[in-house]
Amino acid sequence: MSTQPLRVGVIGAGTVGREVVRAFLERSPRLAPADGRPLLLVAVAEKFTDRAIANGIPAELLTDDASALLARADLDVIVEAMGGDEPAHSLIRAALASGRSVATANKHVIAHHGPALERLARETGAVLRFEASVGGGIPLLGPIAADLAADRIARVRGIVNGTTNYMLTAMAREGRDYADVLREAQAKGYAEADPTADVEGLDAVNKLVILARLAFGVWIAPEAIGNRPGSATGAPGAPGITGVTAEDVAAVAASGRTLRLIATTRLARDGAIEASVVPTAVPAGSPFGRCDGVLNRVEVDATPVGRVAFEGPGAGGPAAAAAVLADLVSIARGLGSTWAGAVRAEGAEAVVRPVAAECVAAPSGACYPVGD
Ligand code: HSE
Repeated sequence: MSTQPLRVGVIGAGTVGREVVRAFLERSPRLAPADGRPLLLVAVAEKFTDRAIANGIPAELLTDDASALLARADLDVIVEAMGGDEPAHSLIRAALASGRSVATANKHVIAHHGPALERLARETGAVLRFEASVGGGIPLLGPIAADLAADRIARVRGIVNGTTNYMLTAMAREGRDYADVLREAQAKGYAEADPTADVEGLDAVNKLVILARLAFGVWIAPEAIGNRPGSATGAPGAPGITGVTAEDVAAVAASGRTLRLIATTRLARDGAIEASVVPTAVPAGSPFGRCDGVLNRVEVDATPVGRVAFEGPGAGGPAAAAAVLADLVSIARGLGSTWAGAVRAEGAEAVVRPVAAECVAAPSGACYPVGD
């Protein structure tokens, strides 16, 4: 293994990017794995350079032009920490097309452009890692793809959105209203810039697409995943947790259960993929019921291992940065893309249908599936 440093450029110095940069500035010896190449931060692109300087990023590392950073010939690895679709998607594509490694926290881009990005990375031999895109700081995708590679995975389900878990926990524990707890989750840096994706379950849908890719070897379209509970009339309810009222939370609590936004994907016997993201009434004392606040929890049912569970901080800059840094160390150690251990995604598009479950009617008229 070469001892030449891998030169890293970070695009975006917001909630996640600035924590990645901070780690380089404060803990750089830890970023030189014993069996890999040392990592060296050489450039940071951030539109708001004044804010970045105020956050402690040295001016000599900074540019306000992400394309100019990407055009530099002296960078080996790009960290994409801008979030959103464009320009993040095009920047990732350009880096992979030039054969450079990319580490990203961008679940939207991976879920919506996954098949094309995987094709491109395989063509050019570039490495694409995205551990931070699901479960924040929990080591999750690597273990599913690599450590469970010899198992047959039947189901993956979990709480994968910290913002909504924080909100549902505060609503149940403190009887606070929806708008108030959403504001607090935003102030703590858990929610997306536009929190619609969090509260409507679309962020969790993106994460479920990524989990299904690694568990089952297929890319499913985010649009194919239902994000609405049923209703007493049979019509679909409001998306994600947007229809959950204080009365619903209290009624579910009175039955010894609690609401959690649960993302589930299963491989059916006929080869179809079942997938849903819906508020689910789980027993208050169950592992999902006890998974509070910004924590995420993911359970994987597989053969021969049985059930394995992953739990930890699912949102926030430091948690996501920890996962990006772990990806950088994996790149430095030559471990390949996040999917390296998992089956290749190729072939016909999977049939996707909702996960069937019994449901309980709540005062708002929503019928929440019952979970265990
Ligand atoms: N907005 C996301 C969440 C951030 O709340 O889970 C982490 O992906």
